[in-house]
Amino acid sequence: MSTSQSASGSQLNFLTASIADLESRLTLLNLQPRDQANTVDGRDVVAGLKQTKKTLPPKYFYDDRGSELFEQICTLPEYYVTRTEAQILQEAASEIAQLTGSCELVELGSGSSTKTRFLLDAYRDQHCLDQTIPFAYAPIDVSGGILKESAIDLLRQYPSLQIRGLIGTYEQGLQNLPPALAPHRMICFLGSTLGNLNAKECQQFFDQIRSALQPGDYFLLGIDLQKSSQVLEAAYNDVQGVTAAFNLNMLRHLNWRFQADFNLEQFEHFAFYNRRYQQIEMHLRSLCDQTVNLAALDVSISLAAGETIHTEISRKFDLEQLPLLLGPSSGPKWLKSRKIWTDSQKWFGLALCQAVLE
Ligand code: SAH
Ligand code: TRP
Repeated sequence: MSTSQSASGSQLNFLTASIADLESRLTLLNLQPRDQANTVDGRDVVAGLKQTKKTLPPKYFYDDRGSELFEQICTLPEYYVTRTEAQILQEAASEIAQLTGSCELVELGSGSSTKTRFLLDAYRDQHCLDQTIPFAYAPIDVSGGILKESAIDLLRQYPSLQIRGLIGTYEQGLQNLPPALAPHRMICFLGSTLGNLNAKECQQFFDQIRSALQPGDYFLLGIDLQKSSQVLEAAYNDVQGVTAAFNLNMLRHLNWRFQADFNLEQFEHFAFYNRRYQQIEMHLRSLCDQTVNLAALDVSISLAAGETIHTEISRKFDLEQLPLLLGPSSGPKWLKSRKIWTDSQKWFGLALCQAVLE
């Protein structure tokens, strides 16, 4: 009796001690206050649905259920992206840490931070060799649930890691970065998420990156490369239908967020590779003539049978395009590619870039 009492007592101590320890190493800042969600975010939904060719902003894929479905996509046999990038990262991580030296890692669209662990392992090893080198990570993601969960997992896995997480868009995160804990920062943008930005958004994105980086800071970019249409189309039309569920989940998210009445049974997933624009295009196709109301946004939209709502692009790049993508700069700071890694099939590229003054 006394043994079991003391066992549960010490277990309790252990739990409270570890929660206090986790809390001391974690700061989370929500840059999207709840009361603003409807008014601020809703405008982009209305603007997209009012266009002749209807669109919806891809950030609405990622509520808790969307993040869960994306994690499933990452493990699909057809979705080569995650495992190919993971393999490159695993092989390159210690070289990256050697090249950059002491760095605070910032990650845009960090999600579950699974692949990031290869980088964290390498920077932890640096910190273990020299304790004066800080070991810090700042994940940024619109999906607060997955960001919090993975931050707690990471703190358990890495007992010397400090995490400062930001819940919000890339732009909000980059504008609200806390002062760096290390001499340099490395902003990571993995998973070919860059490919989800169109050319104009991409340019604005790189302007924001250049302003957030100090000369000497790094930017680590994962990009998906061009390959056969068959491989590409299979990756976004998996046989189990997880990608279809992910695409349709955006409508469920909008139903909840904006008191809308999309009927998910009246839409289907539609994805294809547009070779001319070198991008996968993802749509939701209306299966009948219908009207949808978004009560919180005070808007109704009509869809004809066969009409689509464009939800995502996923651009596929050429490594030769990289200098063009990174520049030109409108200011004195430039991003220069320092080293590129790829897999044996050249399906995916990982580029380490550095901000320099020209
Ligand atoms: N980096 C992970 C996840 C990629 S999926 C990987 O490589 O597997 C894209 C991630 O970016 C999701 O976690 C999503 O919630 C987040 N995201 C999407 N749009 C965003 C935006 N505009 N601002 C911030 N995060 C965004
Ligand atoms: N960055 C990922 C990609 O372009 C995002 C993604 C994967 C995605 N599968 C998807 C987006 C399906 C929408 C639908 O590959």
